[in-house]
Amino acid sequence: MTSFTKGLGLGIVATLLLLVAIALIVILTGAYNVAADDRHLPTTEWALDTSMTNSVQSRAEDLQAPEFTPAMVAAGAGDYKAMCAHCHGGVGEGRAEWSAGMLPHPPALATAAEMWSDEEVFWLVKHGVKASGMPAFGGTHDDRAIWNIAAFVKSMPEMTEDEYAAYRGGH
Ligand code: HEC
Repeated sequence: MTSFTKGLGLGIVATLLLLVAIALIVILTGAYNVAADDRHLPTTEWALDTSMTNSVQSRAEDLQAPEFTPAMVAAGAGDYKAMCAHCHGGVGEGRAEWSAGMLPHPPALATAAEMWSDEEVFWLVKHGVKASGMPAFGGTHDDRAIWNIAAFVKSMPEMTEDEYAAYRGGH
């Protein structure tokens, strides 16, 4: 080993140790602000959003959604109104006032549902999104109930306000 590569190796080790020390100082002193009303830096926000989208896409790839039927949409309505609407709103119905205090904001699914495939909505509902406020429903709901919820969510962009209102809430 030449003295140059030796010096380079030592430099790399020293830099890594310094980074670990800085990370530990930030963790142990509470320098990082965990407040929900403190926005992430734009680069952090980009990194989290992009990771979330790509993570969901790659994990939902192996799933195969059943053909959604009107009966499935109707069966998912009660769960949606009871467990999702306060965060994600309905058709012609805003979300609960308190959910505006969440960061990231829960998107309005009446429009945002279009951006996700049937399988991705199923995956999101079953597994939730880490450290975002989006709960995982897989522990309390079987796959059949979750496909019904996904069927309801995916039909929201085409639903009228009256149709939405006519679905019964609750379980
Ligand atoms: C306590 C609030 C809360 C509840 C209850 C909740 N969600 Fe979410 N949901 C969120 C938040 C916050 C996000 C955004 C996550 C992110 O962007 O990282 C999210 C994201 C999503 C997404 C991805 C949408 C997008 O464009 O980011 C879907 C689909 C979704 N939720 C469906 C549901 C369904 C269906 C239910 C009910 C079974 C539900 N959620 C219940 C807070 C909630």
